[in-house]
Order: sequence, then structure tokens, then C-alpha cells
Amino acid sequence: MHKSKAALLGVLAVSSLCCLACGGTQPADNTPDAGVSHPDAAPGSDVPFKELAAPLGRLFGTQIDPVHLTMGSVHTTDDAPYERFLLREFSLIAPGNNFKMRHLQPTEGDFNFDVTDQVMNYAEQKALAVHGHVLIWGNETSVPSWITDKEEEASNADYPLSRAKLLSIMEQHVTTVVSRYKGRMRSWDVVNEAFCDPQKESGCIVEGGEAGGMDGSIWRRIIGPEFIELALRAARAADPEVKLIVNENGVELTDTPKSEKFFSFIKGLVDKGVPLDGIGIQMHIPAAHFAPLDADQRRALYESVGATFARFNQLGLDVLITELDVFLVDEGRAPTAEELTLQAEIFGNMLRICLEAARCPSFTMWGFTDKYSWIPEGKPGHGFATITDDEMQPKPAYFALKETLRQMQTGR
Ligand code: XIL
Repeated sequence: MHKSKAALLGVLAVSSLCCLACGGTQPADNTPDAGVSHPDAAPGSDVPFKELAAPLGRLFGTQIDPVHLTMGSVHTTDDAPYERFLLREFSLIAPGNNFKMRHLQPTEGDFNFDVTDQVMNYAEQKALAVHGHVLIWGNETSVPSWITDKEEEASNADYPLSRAKLLSIMEQHVTTVVSRYKGRMRSWDVVNEAFCDPQKESGCIVEGGEAGGMDGSIWRRIIGPEFIELALRAARAADPEVKLIVNENGVELTDTPKSEKFFSFIKGLVDKGVPLDGIGIQMHIPAAHFAPLDADQRRALYESVGATFARFNQLGLDVLITELDVFLVDEGRAPTAEELTLQAEIFGNMLRICLEAARCPSFTMWGFTDKYSWIPEGKPGHGFATITDDEMQPKPAYFALKETLRQMQTGR
């Protein structure tokens, strides 16, 4: 069981048998003549996510790319339906790339807040909460090349990137960015993907010879694992109120090498009194991993995901769903009804787990239309990962989320 669970790492979530059996997360009738049409074409045909989620104490969020939104110099793509959908349905936005270090500090000490200032102003005008993604992340899509270049130079000793130097770079970045949006940002992913699964990835630094461990990023290699604590402390010093989050992928299940390592590391931070408000669970979910599962396996996974939320909550931490999407294999054909139904079940059940958790204040998807999804590029051969298609037509997953919210409100 341990092995099969580990093999499913990254699978993350499962549908509840109850809901599957009773059709709970599926639309009652999703046929065109059932009166369920494109929500943009028929505003008011259903209640927006944010209005269903608010009485349940949840923010309903999505990743956005501000180029599609009408904000000053940022706006490059005319897509009024995208913006209408966003403003109607959501109460939280997470700009997918704009806050990454390589965009905010493209050269050393030279910060560029042009886009992020506009994002914050826009969000305030539109009464949207903002989740800041991300302060410190070792991935090449985030860490600026002027930092990695320095590491290469270190061997020439001309401009060595000492621990003290990188620490100062890190703390200055965190302090500058968090201070700028103090009192305005709801939550920050202070650190992203600092852990890795040595069974799946290269470059992991495995501590104590155990499975699971830290990533091989420049932050970990040069500063050491304490970079996480130090980044959190710098963030707290810069804004005493903002929610500080450690964001991670592949930690949804309990009892896998990575999730156990992650839990014990986070518990260590809490025990030590490090400022931390919660963890973010990304949830980029491959639907194909669910297809072969039988009922018992699904139940076990479901319970395992719920147990993950519970055990972090018991530490006094929030658990945020930060980047949910459910991607399908792209074989050059449209998804089958079965695939879309499975996708809907997974979306619905991840939301339900959040709603049932003691502390899951925000449910955020990594985009709401396949038109702009990162999956085809980020995970080649896959796609169809969001709740509306390329034309922004709602898929079964859209209705599953609505139905899940409705059920939680009415208690059935
Ligand atoms: C992705 C963006 O959506 C893409 O536009 C970009 O090219 C690469 O990064 N986990 C994360 C996010 O924490 O930052 C990633 O976002 C998706 C995976």
C-alpha cells in the first residue's frame, strides 16, 4: 500500500464515493436544453462561485494573467469575456508570474513594480483579494539569471556568491517586496517548492539518507535549509499581518516520503515559533492517475487528502489550495465524456475537502479557462485542465464546483 501510494504522489485527490454514488458533484442536468448555458451569455443563470463561497467563509480564487485585464499599460489582449467571467465569479486573484523574482528584480537591486502596482490597484478597485506568488523559489522561471550567473562565477572567485551574499540578496528581496504591499496583500507564498521527491526528480538533496528531502535549488545549496525560516522571518518583519504561506506540490497524501518529510519540517518550524500562517497545496492533478483506481483506492486517497488537511490544521496552520487544475492527456482529440466526468469529480472533491476542513480559507485554481492554461506548455502532451474550454464554455467541472458549494450550504 505504501508503495502504491507513493506511486500516486502527485495524484493528489480523489472523489468521494458518497458523492460519486449519489452524483453529488455532477450537474443534475448538464444538457444544453436544461437551461444551463454559457454563464457569460446568461448572467444570473446561476450564483457566482464567490457568492456561494462567502457564507462558507472561503475566498474563491484563480490564477490570472493581467495582460487580459483592462489595467493601464498591462492590458495587451482584448478579452472582455475573460474579464467579465473573472469579476463575476471570483473573490481572489493570484497573478501567475508577475511577482516572481526574475520579473520584480530583473537586475540586482533594481526593482520593477510597474505591473504589480497596477495589479494591486486593479484588485482594490474590483474588491479582489490578492495572493502573492511567490517570493523565493529556486525554479528557473523565478530565480533571476543574475543570481545563477553569480554562482557560476563563484568558481572563478572574482565575485563569489557567498552564503552571506545570497542571504543578503534574499532578505533584501523579501523585505522590499513585502514592505511595498504591506497591508494590501492577503497572503504570500514566501517559499515555493522547496521540497522534492527523490524518486521522481534529480537534483534533490536527501537529508540523512532518507527518502524525501529538500530541493537542489541555489537557496538550499548555498544558504542551507534554514533559508525557509529566514525568508519567513524577513517577511513577518516587513508585514506583521499578511498571511505567510509555504507552498508545495505533491504533499496532498499522508504517508508518502515527501509528504512525511514536508510535514515534519513544517512541524519543526511551528515548534520553533517561526512565523508561519499556513501551507499551500498546489494540486496540479493528472486525471489519468485516477482512471484505473477502484472504489477502495479512491476512498483511501480521499481519506488521505482529508487527513493531510486535518493534521496541518491541528498544528494551528491554515491549508490553502493554491493552484488546482486537473489535466487530461491530449491526444489531439476532444476529451471524452468519461474524462470530463472524472475531471469534474476531482475538482468537486478537492473543493469539498477544503470546505470540510477546519481551516482552508481559500480555494484557488490555476486559471479558469483552457484558453490560457499553462498545462500544454508546462506538461507537454497534456491539456484541458481547467473548468472551461478554449471558448470559455463551462465543462462538467464548472458545474461540479457549483454543486459542491450548494451542497455544503444546504447540508446535503
Ligand atoms: C507557471 C506559469 O503558469 C507559467 O505561465 C510559467 O511559464 C511557468 O510557471 N507551480 C507554480 C507556478 O508554483 O509558479 C507555475 O506557474 C505552475 C507550477
